[in-house]
Amino acid sequence: MLTNKTIIITGASSGIGKALTSSFLKEGANVVINSRTKSALEQVLDENCEYSSHIISVQGDIGSKQTGQALAAKAINQFGSIDVLVNNAGTFIPKSFLDETEDSLDAYFSTAVKGAFFTAQAVIPTMIEQNNGSIINIGSMWVEHPLIQTPCSASQVAKGGLHTLTRHLAIEFAQNNIRINTIAPAIIETPLYDSLMDKEQLLELASLHPLNKLGSVADIAIWVKHLAGNGSRFVTGQTFFIDGGMTAGAHR
Ligand SMILES: NC(=O)c1ccc[n+]([C@@H]2O[C@H](COP(=O)([O-])OP(=O)(O)OC[C@H]3O[C@@H](n4cnc5c(N)ncnc54)[C@H](OP(=O)(O)O)[C@@H]3O)[C@@H](O)[C@H]2O)c1
Repeated sequence: MLTNKTIIITGASSGIGKALTSSFLKEGANVVINSRTKSALEQVLDENCEYSSHIISVQGDIGSKQTGQALAAKAINQFGSIDVLVNNAGTFIPKSFLDETEDSLDAYFSTAVKGAFFTAQAVIPTMIEQNNGSIINIGSMWVEHPLIQTPCSASQVAKGGLHTLTRHLAIEFAQNNIRINTIAPAIIETPLYDSLMDKEQLLELASLHPLNKLGSVADIAIWVKHLAGNGSRFVTGQTFFIDGGMTAGAHR
């Protein structure tokens, strides 16, 4: 169903974005990937070399407006359309409110808010021309459900901005048949946690979820693919919590 569709994925050199890249390529899509690290992008291109004519990369900080513009331009030049944008780039370092700094707050806003805002601004004119498009913002469960075990006010006020952007763009561009939705994950096993804790500590966090397990990149990919495709043609402005039951309520 996504054959020959063009998908832009930010933050695609690791974790969720990297898994989405392989998954979309297997469906026959063209994928334009981004992250800040050239070597990591080259590794993703290598790992997907059987699809080499369907994948290209744009290195750059997504917080810089030019990166989003370059992603849109490359997608059009190489593949001729922009059907889906996944605003996925992000970082997450839980920290007590009193320890957060101006630099870290700026960095979260730059990636989550400015990055998604200006990348959406770069792709939407093409989606308007096509009278079709889907934008999927990767937000966060913590926006609505803070946990004492993982204080993260700085990252979540930025992700909250992204959740808000979803609803505003959904209403503004519904007339153009552009759908904008948020996926809000709880703890998904990705390299994001490698610098924060060891594997055993991460596995212990499974019990924070009512379903008593961690999420996998496949758990997110299946929802992103659904929102990307025509099966969700009547869905816009929504936030989907892929969170093992976390936002349903306290379970202990
Ligand atoms: N894993 C979870 O439990 C979880 C939970 C809730 C939400 N999320 C969200 O899901 C998204 C993906 O996370 P993940 O777990 O897959 O993390 P990850 O494995 O650390 O991957 C993050 C990706 O984003 C890229 N990135 C970070 N800042 C960027 C920037 N300013 N410009 C361009 N690329 C940037 C990274 O590459 P470079 O560093 O090379 O740029 C990397 O490719 C993030 O937005 C995260 O906040 C994850």
